[in-house]
Amino acid sequence: MSDAKRYAAEKAIDYVEDGMLVGVGTGSTVAYFIDALAGIKHRIQGAVSSSEQSTARLRGHGIEVLDLNHAGQLALYVDGADECDPRRCLIKGGGAALTREKIIAEASEKFVCIVDPSKQVAVLGKFPLPIEVIPMARSLVARAIVAATGAQPVWREGVVTDNGNWILDIHGLAITEPLVLERELNQIPGVVSVGLFARRPADVVIVGTEPPTVF
Ligand code: 5RP
Repeated sequence: MSDAKRYAAEKAIDYVEDGMLVGVGTGSTVAYFIDALAGIKHRIQGAVSSSEQSTARLRGHGIEVLDLNHAGQLALYVDGADECDPRRCLIKGGGAALTREKIIAEASEKFVCIVDPSKQVAVLGKFPLPIEVIPMARSLVARAIVAATGAQPVWREGVVTDNGNWILDIHGLAITEPLVLERELNQIPGVVSVGLFARRPADVVIVGTEPPTVF
């Protein structure tokens, strides 16, 4: 699988143009992208990072990391996913970085998602849907989700996000209407963000087949 992640990540370099400030996601597939980006670092202005983990890797390669508030609108965001459907809607947040990932995706003109073939699904939801919550609202949000969906929230105990919050993973969903569910879950007080990327799906998905599949 690591070869597949690397193929997808290296193909994403085709989308990087001279002088760009590149939005960078989080995860093992993105780690390959950062390594590939290091090879052309003299051609880019720098990166905006979605996690402390990616920031450390970027800086380790000597790539400058800028704050999104100073960067403004980005031309390109490259990130992985836990699941991807044929409409390029995604589940993300397996690495607990979903909130910053969602912010950078929103700030970017083009979102290129890089995945290995195991991430492709017809219907999202087999991978438990991550939701970042304010710690004091954990139980309240969990009860609201059970009432709204009948699915089972599980607290990812011991994990604290880069924003100081907690994660609930929602098991047992079959997400036939991602946009509707994303909107509904976003309404629950205490929800910081929902790991469903349907309102802002990927624009391009690169699957790390050999040769890579792009859709
Ligand atoms: C982190 C994410 C990652 O993009 C997702 O978990 C995929 O990770 P990997 O590339 O390691 O399979 O959403 O919050």
